[in-house]
Order: sequence, then C-alpha cells, then structure tokens
Amino acid sequence: MSRLSRRQFGKIAGWAALGPAAASTEPAGAGTAQESRFTGQGFISGFPSDFLWGTATSAYQIEGAVNEDGRGPSIWDSYTHRPETSAELGNADVADDHYHLYKDDVQLMKALGAKAYRFSIAWPRVFPEGSGTPNPKGLDFYNRLLDELLANDIEPFATMYHWDLPQALQDRLGGWISRDTANAFADYAGHVAERLTDRVRHICTINECARFVHLGYGLGLDAPGLKLSRAELNQVRHNVALAQGLSVQAIRAHGRTGTKVGPAENIVICIPAIETPANIRAAEIATRELNAAYLTVMLEGEYAEGYLARVGKDAPSYTARDLSIISSQIDFVGLNVYRPDHYVVAADNDRGFTLIPFPASFPHMDSAWLRIAPEAMYWAPRHVAKLWGVKSIYISENGTSATDEPAADGNFYDLDRIMYLRNHLLHLQRATSEGIPVSGYFVWSLMDNFEWSDGFQKRYGLYNVDFDTQRRTPKLSASFYREIIRHNAVV
Ligand code: NOJ
Repeated sequence: MSRLSRRQFGKIAGWAALGPAAASTEPAGAGTAQESRFTGQGFISGFPSDFLWGTATSAYQIEGAVNEDGRGPSIWDSYTHRPETSAELGNADVADDHYHLYKDDVQLMKALGAKAYRFSIAWPRVFPEGSGTPNPKGLDFYNRLLDELLANDIEPFATMYHWDLPQALQDRLGGWISRDTANAFADYAGHVAERLTDRVRHICTINECARFVHLGYGLGLDAPGLKLSRAELNQVRHNVALAQGLSVQAIRAHGRTGTKVGPAENIVICIPAIETPANIRAAEIATRELNAAYLTVMLEGEYAEGYLARVGKDAPSYTARDLSIISSQIDFVGLNVYRPDHYVVAADNDRGFTLIPFPASFPHMDSAWLRIAPEAMYWAPRHVAKLWGVKSIYISENGTSATDEPAADGNFYDLDRIMYLRNHLLHLQRATSEGIPVSGYFVWSLMDNFEWSDGFQKRYGLYNVDFDTQRRTPKLSASFYREIIRHNAVV
C-alpha cells in the first residue's frame, strides 16, 4: 500500500471546492440562543451555548497496526481472518492507519471546529492476554493521542469497550458467557482509568451492549460468530450488564475524582405513532420493558417483571448483589441514535402498548437497517430523562452510511447524509429547547472506516478515505457539520 507523507497529506482536496458554505465569512458565535427562530439568514435552530459538538470512531474500525507494540489479537482479528468471512469483509489490519496518522486525523477534527472526540481504547493493546500482565507499550499510543487532542483544544471521551475483546479471553473463558470476563474488564478499566484520567474527564464504559451480544453471540453475524441458546444468551446479557457496573466501580476506585462515567447505549427506541398523551405513555412503558436487559436494569437495579416473564425459564442466574453492582451510580447516559426500533400505540392489554409493524414502503438510508425517523432523536433522550430522571445525556453516536460516489469534479456531494443529519439535529434541537438535558452530540463518524460485518462497503465518514492511499477528502457533509458547529445551530 502506498502511503502519503505528512506534507502530501496536507494537500488533501479541499474545503474551497465545497461551495459557499465552506467559504462563508459569517461571524462565529452567531445563533447561540437556544430557541428556534427564523432569521432569514439561513440558520434556524440554536443549541445551548455550552453544547459540545464532536465526532466519534472506535479502535478496531480505524487504528490498524494490529501487530504493533505488543497488541494481542482480538475476536475481530480472528473473525475477519476466517476463510468464510475474510473474502467478503476484508479485515482491519490497516483500516485507516490511524495508529500512525493520528496527528493528521486530529487536524481533520480541528478543521471541522469540533470540540470533542469520542474514541475507544483497544483492550488487547493494554492486556494482550485479556488479563494478567499489562503490555508496557499498551497505553503509549493513547497517551500520544490524548496529548495531541488537548493541544488542539479537543475534549477526549474515551470508550473502554467497543467490541474488540481479547481473543485470549474468548479462548480461555468463552468470552462474555463467563462472569470472569466481566471481572477482567473491570480490572482493565481500572488500570486505564488510573493512567489516563489526568486528561480524560469522560469515560464511556461499554458501547452498544445489545448489538454485540445479539449479533456476535446470538446470530453469529459479528465476532465471535456464535449462536448460543436463549438461556446462554440471557446469561451473556447479564454478564455484560455486570461488567458495566463493575467497571464503573473500578473507574471510580482508580480514576481521578470527578471523572464522569456512563454507558454508550443503543437503546430500543420506541416512538409514539401519533403524539397523544396515551401513546406517549405507551411508548415510555415499552421503552422501559424493551430495554430491560441493559439500561433499565442499570438505572433501576432490577429486571423488569415483564422481561422476567418473557424470558421465563431462560432467565439468567444472578444474585441481589449483582443487581446492586449493575446499578452503580453513573454520571451520564450516552445514546447512540440511528433509527426507530418501534412505533407504539396505547393498548388495553397486559403490556399497555402495541408495537406497530413497519410497512414495506417505510424509507431507509443506504443501509437497509437504517430506517429514517429523525424523531427518534427527540424521543430517545426524552424517554431516558423522563423515565429515569437522568440529568446528563450525550448523543454518543448518530450518522448514516451513504453511497458517496465522487461527482465529475471529484467532490463527494453526500446530500443524503446532510438530509439525514439535518433532520435528526432539528429533533435534537426540539429536545434541548424543551430542557431535555442533552449536553453534546458526536457524529458517526469522523471518517470512513471498517464497518464490521459490512467490511469497507458501507461508508459513514464526514471525510472520504481512499483505503489504498490513506488520502482523506472532506465530503460536503464535513462543510455542513462545520457550519453547524460554527453557528451552534441547525443550518
Ligand atoms: C454503532 C457502532 O457503535 C459503530 O461501531 C458502527 O460503525 C455504527 N453503529 C454504524 O453501524
């Protein structure tokens, strides 16, 4: 693979080509009021003045360098190198080569005017065997990255687990089927917190429990590619929830006082089909029940009755002490919001709600699973604030894949991504203007990267990445997001 030098990289095709918005001279700071307004100036909806705008990525999806500086293999390395998956997916051995290009990538964030960056730490870099002796070089990269971010006034949000489980733990313990994996995770999280919380003030514990458990351990469609029984799967869910609580305790025990900790959850998002008080209540009831295995138990310290009734004899085994660990106090809830899971209406039945089936004509983005319902961005944080009194919420991810073909002039006019983001942000503005405590938003993703079981076929970045040359090129959505940040308003 040919790689660009730093100097060549600086000449990336650029902002100037991307139209008047990119070249605008409007003063920064305009539009900081929180209420919606029509100014005739083009921007219509403002956010709170201290709102944190960021971008997000994860370690395995961008870093590459899988064999460098003592990193051990993760379940995703093994999964992508299996003969049956490798041809279709490729692998992330190099990915965005961010391990070497991180300084340039921080400049990409800076060019957006982003104030925060959510990234993840690769557990197998820190503990190549999953537990035991830490790799002395394991945290060096993150130390360099943190220093670079802070030198550029970008606030780091570090995620402890974004699915790259050390393969050794899968081999030794069966991965998340074992409680010992939860204990190993807490040890790793404590180790990292002790060394990084002098600079990292926000830690996301686990990214999207539901996705990696369901697809990785239930359907065999993500690493480690298992299809466990219902009972085993519920035990995995419980162990992951336990890991969340144990890691919160470890981070508090070893991190600096004041470190803020919370999960980054892809909750099952339930939207009232028609916004009547009865349907809104039904959507809240559904939200509580359908998130029983993760956010509900984390915030309530009990498995909802409806959940236990539903799983019946396949319920996990657990103790009262487990429940109190799982519900260890968190400081914020991160929400990854992409699509609606259900539209809900009130019903005179045991559950108090009915989930309405989606019509075949319901629209979706480039990825078929990515149904378009921007109002999910209003309802997800609203339910969390209302049901559980959560006082601090971050949108830890939101974004879409797009086909991103270059136009004749070489630019990427990703109007579909802009449409998607703009409409979600309008609903986020609805939420903040009603006082729902959302403090920041992280677009997924800074740049195209390895999209798990979609390999490199699905692109989510604000920057296009040519994976042969590692050239990064801003798409039109990068200009769009830069203007959003500059005005602190939807433009
Ligand atoms: C959520 C996951 O956290 C992220 O890793 C993934 O790339 C995006 N969804 C898009 O599918």
